[in-house]
Amino acid sequence: MNGIHETVLLNEAVTALNIMPNGNYVDATFGRGGHSKNILNQFKCEDKGRLLVIDRDTDAIEVAESLAKTYNNLLIEHGAFEELEKMIGIHFENKVDGILFDLGISSPQIDQAERGFSFNKDGPLDMRMDASSGETAADWLNRADWKEISKVLWRYGEEKNATKIAKEIVIYREEVKPLETTNELVGIIEKINKYSKKHPATRSFQAIRIHLNRELEQVENVLPAAINCLKKGGRLVVISFHSLEDRIVKRFLKKQSSQGKFDKRMPIAPTDSATLKIIGKPIKASALELKNNPRARSAIMRIAEKL
Ligand SMILES: C[S@@+](CC[C@H](N)C(=O)[O-])C[C@H]1O[C@@H](n2cnc3c(N)ncnc32)[C@H](O)[C@@H]1O
Repeated sequence: MNGIHETVLLNEAVTALNIMPNGNYVDATFGRGGHSKNILNQFKCEDKGRLLVIDRDTDAIEVAESLAKTYNNLLIEHGAFEELEKMIGIHFENKVDGILFDLGISSPQIDQAERGFSFNKDGPLDMRMDASSGETAADWLNRADWKEISKVLWRYGEEKNATKIAKEIVIYREEVKPLETTNELVGIIEKINKYSKKHPATRSFQAIRIHLNRELEQVENVLPAAINCLKKGGRLVVISFHSLEDRIVKRFLKKQSSQGKFDKRMPIAPTDSATLKIIGKPIKASALELKNNPRARSAIMRIAEKL
């Protein structure tokens, strides 16, 4: 059940957090704990540093709970990182020194057929990161109208045949039966999309997953909260895996770091209200990492420091 997740940008992300012996840190996307273990190993026995880990997936939380038997400075919260401020408030009296987001899904989530994320494995059409609550992909696809489905496939998957696929889904559920499995959905998509380099269902599966888990909204909501929770000099480190996510992060960091900078085109210099300083250029996986972990090819890491 636990599965293996090959952590992306492991050393780069932990170095970017600038771990201090008595600092308080948050790994908001625990997964299988690759980054977390590395952070915890930076602390020596006498250090007072603590790490709060968050994940909305109960399997991930089980792994964190077993790790907590080895590390007594590991704190755990199950839930969506949208609740970051509340979760940090529960565990820390003050603000924290660093927050890491390694966005998206973990390999075990994709690899377990019963989670319904994979178009390569037959399983229930679920796709919830938190399988303990909320609507499944099947629930949604069996209730939404074709326009809503088409909008999601286009917006979050840039699927060119979004409308055709959406209409075919509605015909299938009305004339054949309600959708239940990933293979049924793949079968419908394959009637419309022919094989190219990518599997014909890649874009639709990505889009449905992003929609169902409110992935982009979560990122949009959490970034301002993360700044509020950081101490002066604290680090924000975000790893994204697709352009929709990265665009949100990039725009946010740009806006927060440029506000208040003197601009020659402006008649009056605004008050200095920048909240962040961007640290370095965005970081991508090295050739060596890409060789060992092809999943790292789309990863892009951005770092910022609270002013
Ligand atoms: C890419 S994996 C993280 C892998 C981790 N860094 C490691 O090395 O094992 C992303 C994890 O974040 C979780 N996740 C994604 N979005 C989340 C959200 N909005 N709130 C809480 N957890 C989330 C997923 O359930 C998944 O376990």
